[in-house]
Amino acid sequence: QSQLPEGYTIRPLQRGDYAKGFLDVLRVLTTVGDVTEEQWNQRYEWLTQHNDQYFMISILDSASRVVGTGALIVERKFIHNLGLVGHIEDIAVAKDQQGKKLGLRIIQALDFVAEKVGCYKSILDCSEANEGFYVKCGFRRAGLEMAHYY
Ligand code: ACO
Repeated sequence: QSQLPEGYTIRPLQRGDYAKGFLDVLRVLTTVGDVTEEQWNQRYEWLTQHNDQYFMISILDSASRVVGTGALIVERKFIHNLGLVGHIEDIAVAKDQQGKKLGLRIIQALDFVAEKVGCYKSILDCSEANEGFYVKCGFRRAGLEMAHYY
């Protein structure tokens, strides 16, 4: 397991992460939009009510700014004897913090949770440009992503 840089912490998402730049970290990934604090709080409440299904983590730097994040969603299936599948989503590390193994640390943490709750595998979608990162994290190419936008 890789270590975090001195003074950095990794922990579950907290309500106060709104003010610590959580959404700005996600902006390296895609459009976030103008999410108000009230909207954030509503979503945060919902997530806490589904905390056996949604696991979101933040990495904070030594100044307590959010610099990395990722999510694990646990899907409950009928197949494979009521099998559980982990879905890894929205992995993001602040631009100026990339290359410090924070992404790897996020994936390791989510993998740990997935295994602990009993998932038989975790899967994710990514671009070709990120394949090498996930290979380094222990994933391998399997299948093909398709999307239907509404
Ligand atoms: N291609 C190949 N190798 C890579 C890449 C890449 N794009 N990115 C990192 N690596 C390698 C690193 O060199 C390192 O290798 P090493 O152990 O030999 O030194 C290893 O992977 C671990 O790298 P980290 O330092 O942990 O990577 P980082 O903290 O920069 O995080 C991430 C990687 C999450 C892809 C980051 O660059 C990022 O936030 N990018 C923008 C957002 C994004 O694309 N997120 C992923 C979307 S897919 C999804 O969410 C399921």
